[in-house]
Amino acid sequence: MSFPVSYLTRAWLGSKISTTLLPSTIRPLSAHIKLTENCQARCISCDYWKTRWQDKISTPRAIDLINELIAADVRTLRLTGGEPLLRKDLFLILEKANASRFKHIILQTNGLLIKKLHQELNDSSISHLSVSMDGVKETNDRIRGIRGYFDLAMAGIQLLRGKSVAISVTLNRMSADELGLLAAMARDVGASVEYNILSRSLYFLENADLDSMWPQPADVPKIARFMREGLKRPAYEVDYMTRYYNREELAEPPCVLGYLQLFVLSNGDVMTGCYSLKPVGNILRDKLADVLASEAYRRQCVSMIRRECPGCTCGVESSLAMKYAGSSAFFHLKRLTGSGNRRNGGPFDGPSDRAHTPSLVRIRTSHDLASQSQKDAVDK
Ligand SMILES: C[S@@+](CC[C@H](N)C(=O)[O-])C[C@H]1O[C@@H](n2cnc3c(N)ncnc32)[C@H](O)[C@@H]1O
Ligand code: SF4
Ligand code: SF4
Repeated sequence: MSFPVSYLTRAWLGSKISTTLLPSTIRPLSAHIKLTENCQARCISCDYWKTRWQDKISTPRAIDLINELIAADVRTLRLTGGEPLLRKDLFLILEKANASRFKHIILQTNGLLIKKLHQELNDSSISHLSVSMDGVKETNDRIRGIRGYFDLAMAGIQLLRGKSVAISVTLNRMSADELGLLAAMARDVGASVEYNILSRSLYFLENADLDSMWPQPADVPKIARFMREGLKRPAYEVDYMTRYYNREELAEPPCVLGYLQLFVLSNGDVMTGCYSLKPVGNILRDKLADVLASEAYRRQCVSMIRRECPGCTCGVESSLAMKYAGSSAFFHLKRLTGSGNRRNGGPFDGPSDRAHTPSLVRIRTSHDLASQSQKDAVDK
């Protein structure tokens, strides 16, 4: 299957020159599906675990959805959440749907269940795992609120066979000194490293304590060095991260995510690759093809290009690549959307999910880590 260069070219030209050049029909390259938004971790940076969510997408609807995505020529399926491995029918859904027709299936996971489910994972059509770890050992465990998390996830990774694995680190102040060591430990288990930039205003981050994780001015150069030398990220990405964390003014790129990815939430809502704007349909009511072909979908993608949005850093790597990388943007986008080789620096499945509009920054009292209840790592 060839990569849709003309589609991307139009998205690129439309974002740079005039919205009249944008593709007239939307063909997202990747789909990020949240079959559950429940979670058993307790991350400082994320609120998901604080709510008991209803999983509204039934097994048969999930199977149909996956087949609809394939029919829509979506190349990459990203299973995220919440914690996707808490969905007990996940492997059944992949097996019953024609999931092996995706070019890549990426599981975005906290890693707590990999060890327990490694056989099912090894036997599944999942090709990539992005395992979230925000520091080394105790630092990670404090950030993610589970004692033993790091060791459990690492043990699980080592049981995987034939999978491409990345450790997904959300760049933060508490592990700014450990990033090189984290990358070395990742290498030792055959994993690469990808990064997220802390988001601050999405629906699942409203009560998260981001202050305790926000890099201080002295941390930012350390993180920048890691991005530059450890991850070999382009200068414009490093510069963006630096300005964002230093709360400096940013030249926000047009947001191309509407053209690249679609999201489906656990209540069935279809989002145009953006967690901040309104849903444009619901798969419990609508066929995916109808939602994708709708004028509401197209219009919202155009308004994303114009940045008629609260702003976030979700998938900002893709928008920066479109803005700065010229023709090499397509190479970057292949990697970012999972259409090329291994991602190295990627969109928070949300993708991606971060706001930098100063008025949206939540200022909270510093999180008391000592009182953060730490559950034992339960391999459930
Ligand atoms: C919301 S989680 C869902 C999937 C899974 N539970 C996990 O942790 O990988 C998706 C990604 O968002 C990252 N994340 C959590 N809080 C974040 C924040 N405030 N800003 C940016 N990324 C964040 C997680 O570390 C993870 O890599
Ligand atoms: S980041 Fe992932 S593991 Fe952590 S609370 Fe959120 S959904 Fe759960
Ligand atoms: S809120 Fe984020 S994802 Fe949504 S349009 Fe704005 S920059 Fe893009």
